[in-house]
Amino acid sequence: MAFFRGIPVSLWGSGMYVPEKVLTNDDLSRLVETSDEWIRDRTGIQRRHIAAEGELTSTVAEKAARAALDDAGVDPSELDMIIVATNSPDTLFPGVAPKVQGLLGALNAGAFDVQSGCTSGVYSMAVAAGGIASGMWKRVLVIGAEVLSPLIDWTDRNTCVLFGDGAGAVVLGPSREGEGKFISAELRSDGTKHEQITLPGGVVQYPATAETVKNKLHYVAMKGNDVFKFVNRTIPPFLRDYCGASGFSPEDIDWWFFHQANQRIIERSAERLGISPDKVILNIAEYGNTSAASLFIALSEFLREKRLRKGEKLLFTAFGAGMTYGGIIYEA
Ligand code: COA
Repeated sequence: MAFFRGIPVSLWGSGMYVPEKVLTNDDLSRLVETSDEWIRDRTGIQRRHIAAEGELTSTVAEKAARAALDDAGVDPSELDMIIVATNSPDTLFPGVAPKVQGLLGALNAGAFDVQSGCTSGVYSMAVAAGGIASGMWKRVLVIGAEVLSPLIDWTDRNTCVLFGDGAGAVVLGPSREGEGKFISAELRSDGTKHEQITLPGGVVQYPATAETVKNKLHYVAMKGNDVFKFVNRTIPPFLRDYCGASGFSPEDIDWWFFHQANQRIIERSAERLGISPDKVILNIAEYGNTSAASLFIALSEFLREKRLRKGEKLLFTAFGAGMTYGGIIYEA
């Protein structure tokens, strides 16, 4: 666990974008053997947004970025760094961040991607806040963006019901008069479980061949039940310890932003930590699991509807392929 020291860092603005096309559970039940009832009961998901043909991760990232820059009142030329959290880059290289930097005309900014499963959002926010706190950067655009739909096997009911496309973004900068600040972050990984969520094909370990395509190695593969057990075992004690090390008890946190992977996981974790359900942000019903974008979308929606009160504490937490997990606390 580490406290942010140095220059206090605040949230200057946020934005989001999700594709227009919606895929309902009933739509899915016409593709694979499943039902609206099964998906709702087991995951809480009702709909997910799916990118249109030609809509890439860089496309959704740019739209969310423009909304966040607008909200923050920051011109692209004022950015020092652009970080994109994604597991579905348009191409292995270049990354999405340099493409977005070019699309925005952010001529003074560096750009790089963070790819660490669904925890990428927490990792990238922590890196951005740490970079500003140290004085290395002043204004950083952090985007979580995913177009996972081309990476999903739409005949595999174990995975295709879970994921959705979309993007969210935040602009971070040094705290100004009366603004909040990031308090602490804890970034973890258990790489012994790296086989639980994978997309193995088409890169170094399994270069693309007719065989890898036949065996569908170019799609997301997941041991859903193992992930479910790992998360239920790991996340509640992790969050209790992380809050404690940051000087808080779980009740001190005003708003809990869990990675929107499965409503049952979120509710079970909240229950074990004694968190009141009205402090838990839930939007999985509408978007499904948007991986690295999920926390940014949840935050952007939240801030569109609510004004943070001075001193309120927000905790963001996620887990995902790696298996990575982590948390970051912000005080308004
Ligand atoms: N519709 C209907 N039945 C389905 C189904 C679907 N979409 N997907 C799986 N099933 C079936 C399975 O085939 C299995 O049938 P069987 O008993 O005949 O073999 C049965 O439902 C139970 O499968 P199981 O995997 O044990 O279900 P579960 O309660 O664990 O729920 C998940 C499955 C995927 C919803 C759940 O494991 C989960 O959410 N895991 C975490 C995944 C996650 O969060 N991943 C992202 C991490 S960032």
